[in-house]
Amino acid sequence: MLNGGTCLDEAKVRGVLDRIGGRSGWDPGEEPALDRLSRGLDTPEFGDVLDVYRTGSFASPPEIGLLLYSAVRSIRPEVVVELGTSYGFSTLHIAAALRDNGHGTVITAEIDPRKVRDATWNFTAAGLASHVEVLPGDAVRTFKGFGEQIDLVYLDGWVGSYLDALTLLQPALRPGAQVYANSTRRFEVPARPYLDHVRNSANGFFSMQVPLGHGLEASTYVSREPSGVPA
Ligand SMILES: C[S@@+](CC[C@H](N)C(=O)[O-])C[C@H]1O[C@@H](n2cnc3c(N)ncnc32)[C@H](O)[C@@H]1O
Repeated sequence: MLNGGTCLDEAKVRGVLDRIGGRSGWDPGEEPALDRLSRGLDTPEFGDVLDVYRTGSFASPPEIGLLLYSAVRSIRPEVVVELGTSYGFSTLHIAAALRDNGHGTVITAEIDPRKVRDATWNFTAAGLASHVEVLPGDAVRTFKGFGEQIDLVYLDGWVGSYLDALTLLQPALRPGAQVYANSTRRFEVPARPYLDHVRNSANGFFSMQVPLGHGLEASTYVSREPSGVPA
């Protein structure tokens, strides 16, 4: 039981979370597939990456789920954007926090149509569908022209797409917005353009790596505006 009383403890939310992964950490059965991506080829083809993702859930570890829950309770966002729904493990943590806050929507992108269908079913089964909007298709297409102000982003798809996705979302980031990007240590080479972007303060971010999951880059968008130092 988590302290504070949260809908993460509700039987129907817990039931879906336990069924789709996470509680015991990374599924060791998925490790060989991830190894194939990180071994040999530094920058695998996107099609090969999607073939690997189709073979499993690749759910975020529980500690990232809880970090996302806590961040949403703290920031009290109206809009959260996620790249990589899979079966909805991380999305459900975000949606649970939005419901506990009493407002907000998580807009989550997933390219695999079967996962879109199953995740949508999971959000309904958990009673959290009213806080979730699923964007089917490639995020680098569906994030184009994003019109709403964003308070929190969770990138958990293929690291090689992160910079393109962030470039589309950045104009909509509210100053102070948090951007979390998973797997940036394990896939450091394809993640490099993204890491170079968020670690360059000229681009408006304060950024550091947190030792969670496969390396979680945690960035705060402090905006490109000068800080207003008195003359
Ligand atoms: C690591 S899994 C996401 C796990 C999920 N966040 C969770 O905690 O359960 C990555 C997912 O991202 C999806 N994906 C990868 N690249 C994508 C893209 N460019 N647009 C949309 N979905 C993408 C894959 O199909 C896969 O389901």
